[in-house]
Amino acid sequence: MLKEFSPYLEYKDGILHFDGVNLLELVREFGTPLYVYSESHVRERAREYKKNFKDALLCFAVKSNYNLHLLRILGEEGFGADVVSGGELYLSLKAGIKGEKIVYAGVGKTEEEIKLAIGEGILMFNVESEEELYLLDELSKSLKKRSRVSIRVNPQIDPRTHPYIATGIRNSKFGIEYSRALEVYKKAKTLKNLEVVGIHCHIGSQILELSPFEEAFYKISKLCEELLNLGIELKYIDLGGGLGIKYRPEDEEISLEDYRRVVEKFFKGFPSRIVLEPGRSVVGNAGILITQVQFFKQKEGKNFLIVDAGMNDLLRPSLYSSYHHVVGLREGEEFVVGDLVGPICESGDFLAKGRKLPKVKRGDYLCILSAGAYGFSMSSNYNLRPRPAEVLLSKGNYKLIRRRETYQDFLKWF
Ligand code: LLP
Repeated sequence: MLKEFSPYLEYKDGILHFDGVNLLELVREFGTPLYVYSESHVRERAREYKKNFKDALLCFAVKSNYNLHLLRILGEEGFGADVVSGGELYLSLKAGIKGEKIVYAGVGKTEEEIKLAIGEGILMFNVESEEELYLLDELSKSLKKRSRVSIRVNPQIDPRTHPYIATGIRNSKFGIEYSRALEVYKKAKTLKNLEVVGIHCHIGSQILELSPFEEAFYKISKLCEELLNLGIELKYIDLGGGLGIKYRPEDEEISLEDYRRVVEKFFKGFPSRIVLEPGRSVVGNAGILITQVQFFKQKEGKNFLIVDAGMNDLLRPSLYSSYHHVVGLREGEEFVVGDLVGPICESGDFLAKGRKLPKVKRGDYLCILSAGAYGFSMSSNYNLRPRPAEVLLSKGNYKLIRRRETYQDFLKWF
């Protein structure tokens, strides 16, 4: 069953190994909470994307995991970057990803961020409002540059995922309404310092069915036809990210082959290059979070396993009630039913609720699976907790790729 999460996860002599590395030895060296990533898994997923989308530009969604070393690996694999802030742009460039492979989305880009991106000559701005178009035109003029834009169109479909991560529905803040898209394209064409090169859509994240993609792509392809009829030829059709991963043992992922078929079905006939922005489906199951059990307590008949990782380290369960599978670092046969909770002073600080959990005691370790995407990148210092270390594993070798924060780090902020 573990192999279905990652082919690189396995118990050897009763101890969990990831990408050939004994995780017990690893936590003894680096402590907990500890994020670990399998380089082999990341490269394999990147190559599967490349194999299926040979002619596409693949832009890794940096928001899912911004570790510089992972960005370098993805850059080496030929990926570009999908960024949503000046910070993500800066780090992607530092990781060696060229501006010409960077796309920039986001509803609230600041002047400073836009200027930075213009200066770096990024591939295109995925523009989310008319005001943004005008600002981009003005700033491009002041910097004597012509900026490439694509317009993010909201296809207004329900991706049947958690409402907080559904972005293509009618009342969300993202993109431009489908019904006004043509009008906005016509306006954009009149702006002298902009070159209209593409269309962008992203309907949501953690999607496990093909039908929402089909609905959205149908609508976007119709729009592309209408644009062509108006003489607006698009160089790029950017379909965003969104492919879900296995979090629960029973979850079934969409295969990249099936996804490719859907993309081809709607867009094969267009003279445009496809851009994809996958995040979770590249790194999600390449990462796990290891935590140490502090205490076990029973309260009013309920079992609580209290561990040293909290909502500040992995926010997803608290924010979206997300399920993350939990396994023992040591293979075991005994289980308890209860809540896995962190040390944070919030009732919402839990990692698993009412779950069959490995029967462990103080000092033992638990591994929280599928933590490679939106894990560390959503972490914080709440309760003034130093953020965890991150370690990269590769075929039996390992490397610290972000050191654990220290109390002294806190002083540097003030
Ligand atoms: N492109 C755009 C414009 C996006 O907004 C996103 C994700 C992606 C690409 C990448 O989507 P992916 O392939 O990773 O599904 N924090 C949430 C997920 C928020 C996703 C936001 N946008 C979570 O932990 O589930």
